[in-house]
Amino acid sequence: MTKSLLLLPGDGIGPEVIGEVKRLLAVLALDIAVEEALFGGAAIDATGLPITDETVARALASDAALMGAVGGPKWAGQAYDKRPEAGLLRLRSEMGVYANLRPARCFAALADASSLKREFVEGLDILFVRELVGGVYFGTPRGIEDIGGGERRGVNTQVYTSSEIRRVARTAFELARGRSNRVCSAEKSNVMEAGLLWKEEVTALHKAEYADVELSHMLADNMAMQLVKNPKQFDVIVTDNLFGDILSDEAAMLTGSLGMLPSAAIGEAGKPGLYEPIHGSAPDIAGQGLANPCAAILSFAMALRFSLGDAAAADRVEAAVDKALTGGARTRDIGGTLSTQEMGAAIIAAL
Ligand code: NAD
Ligand code: IPM
Ligand code: MN
Repeated sequence: MTKSLLLLPGDGIGPEVIGEVKRLLAVLALDIAVEEALFGGAAIDATGLPITDETVARALASDAALMGAVGGPKWAGQAYDKRPEAGLLRLRSEMGVYANLRPARCFAALADASSLKREFVEGLDILFVRELVGGVYFGTPRGIEDIGGGERRGVNTQVYTSSEIRRVARTAFELARGRSNRVCSAEKSNVMEAGLLWKEEVTALHKAEYADVELSHMLADNMAMQLVKNPKQFDVIVTDNLFGDILSDEAAMLTGSLGMLPSAAIGEAGKPGLYEPIHGSAPDIAGQGLANPCAAILSFAMALRFSLGDAAAADRVEAAVDKALTGGARTRDIGGTLSTQEMGAAIIAAL
């Protein structure tokens, strides 16, 4: 049966990197119905909203949605609920994609592209499982209020329930079984109640159902340090929304560039997934053809694997990226001179 993919190019380098996915789609000629919608700042300019109800409905009716990136200086002055980023949070929440898989894999050809020495990153293969629809991103109360005397107060709330923690931990344990069977859970249980609950719930689920998986716990600040000290100690890392955001950007540099790291956000079985490179709209290089399209292309491969029922095509796309890199194809962020389009062309040529 024909599968459906909704492309959400978004802002800045988003349309540039999704453009390379479109060229790849044309060459692969798979049985996928591809649609496109405005998202983020581009949607604000056209409709006043970062995402419309119609676009949310179309994403929910698709098998997968693949976005580029949203945001940029043009819209940064708006109230939070009117910003491009709010559209992304709404989409994640309405799609219920609570588990964000962010694989930090160092391609062999890029072992010298990281700012760490080769021996620390060669063969690196970490899978982050970031909780994506809860925590401080969504907790209430939130806001900025005047509290008199010329003072203002900014409030955000870190909040997790047991079931929110357990469902994402379950995803991490399940995925670990298909890998090296090790999970490290990161929180700040030393200073935060939500972190303590996180640790307790992960421990209880492990004891009850996943005792065969090796589980360890680490305070998130220590993990930030350990990721640069000895990153290969990690297999699967499960953590909350905010720590997962920060630690996965850090891990991206171990693979050579933020432009290399894809992601898949999944929820209940059978529901559509949301796929996105972990990088943003990169206003500093947008419109110049300098963006690395690998993260977007590898996110498309994850969509093929997890939502579009074509693992063989996913393998082909991932192998083509590997082959292009091995052949020396490089955008500027990974030490080369190719443009976004030239890099996309090198990957297509390697198919
Ligand atoms: P960013 O990820 O956009 O850029 C950080 C740095 O990495 C920049 O120097 C940029 O040039 C570089 N970079 C990012 N992607 C690259 C790529 N594919 N190839 C080469 N270099 C790349 O983060 P930022 O500058 O902090 O944020 C810019 C905007 O993007 C903000 O509005 C932010 O909210 C938004 N953002 C959106 C997403 C998303 O849509 N998923 C993710 C992160 C940030
Ligand atoms: C990401 C981004 C988003 C996040 C922003 C743009 C809402 O940084 O996808 O990593 O913080 O989740
Ligand atoms: Mn981020």
